Amino acid sequence: MSNPELVPGLAGIPAAESSISFIDGQAGVLEYRGYKIEDLSANSTYEEVAWLLLYGELPTADELSAFEADLGRLRELPEALVKMIQAMPATAHPMQALQASLAGLGMVSPKTNLRDAASKDEACRRVIACTPVLVAAFERVRAGKDYVAPKAELSTAANFLWCLDGESPDDVAVRTLDCALILHAEHTMNASTFACRVVASTENDPYTSCSGAVGALFGPLHGGANERVLKQLATIGSVDEVEAWYDAKSANKQKVMGFGHRVYKTKDPRANNLQTLATELFQTLGSTPKYDLALKLEEVVTARLGDRGIYPNVDFFSGLVYEKLGLDTDVFTPIFAMARVAGYCAHYLEQHLDNKLFRPGQIYAGQRDRALPRS
Ligand code: ACO
Repeated sequence: MSNPELVPGLAGIPAAESSISFIDGQAGVLEYRGYKIEDLSANSTYEEVAWLLLYGELPTADELSAFEADLGRLRELPEALVKMIQAMPATAHPMQALQASLAGLGMVSPKTNLRDAASKDEACRRVIACTPVLVAAFERVRAGKDYVAPKAELSTAANFLWCLDGESPDDVAVRTLDCALILHAEHTMNASTFACRVVASTENDPYTSCSGAVGALFGPLHGGANERVLKQLATIGSVDEVEAWYDAKSANKQKVMGFGHRVYKTKDPRANNLQTLATELFQTLGSTPKYDLALKLEEVVTARLGDRGIYPNVDFFSGLVYEKLGLDTDVFTPIFAMARVAGYCAHYLEQHLDNKLFRPGQIYAGQRDRALPRS
């Protein structure tokens, strides 16, 4: 074999054949199993989308209600896991807590039999069912509040809000969050999904694979950008200061959070959807000056960088939506994660259909055959 060329970040190198989702980065298209994200976010629920991602087809009404019941049954956390979360330091970032909690979920769950499809399927469902409860549990713990047990009869979005506040959530908040979960549920071979497939390829269970993926998602270049977008808007100040702020950033060669994408070279279709969601929410709950700032920032950045394919990505508007729902800034990425576990689990199952251990090569650039100075 001739010497392979190094492709930094494996950009554009296929790591698997997959039929879960599709992106056309030039046209700004995202499809889950062939269905456009715009159609799914307008007409589906997160549970329906999770089923679609896992099994490839939309569920029948009976399949959907059985799946919803199953998620409700599986979301109960064993006491040992609640205690583990209660013992976590309140200073931890919620993504660190989630990564540890997902590993903890594996410790307290029945051992997954990797040779048995039903056992793996149940473990995937448990991950999807429990992740929102794990996120909410740590939110309460770090605020010094008691754990609120999940309710089996609620949807994923409604149950998450219930577990956070211990109060019945309002319909607008539930529908908004449900839609945001759909938009974040899957996104081809990104860094965290790849991490999930790498861990899965070592013949690991879904808990460990998703825990590893959550670690990858935490980074500021991936899921961690959404909380930085809001911090960034807070530092800009006012609409009049946006241009000067951008010029200073650009002069220092710093990136603007919430812009740019490895695959999209136009506005991320999820950013369009989240912007619509944000404006609908503002009509009901009142707008925020940060939204005007965001619009101005979009105008300035796209005027300067649009010809290089740098436009708003999914993280640009999601923070504004979550903030309006009253959620803490550093819980934005865990919300991304609790949606994305559906995609991770779909990739986990797909990886195991024809598994081969990931073991890439390297281009060695170090020294060789050195003599120890002592010899
Ligand atoms: N602001 C300013 N310049 C940018 C930005 C940005 N947000 N993104 C890329 N560029 C510029 C880089 O400075 C670089 O310029 P140079 O060639 O003059 O050095 C060029 O575009 C290429 O940048 P890369 O980082 O190599 O491009 P890549 O395609 O790998 O970038 C990435 C993708 C990592 C997402 C990048 O756009 C970025 O860091 N954005 C900010 C963080 C962010 O919003 N991340 C969320 C991504 S969506 C998600 O993961 C859910």
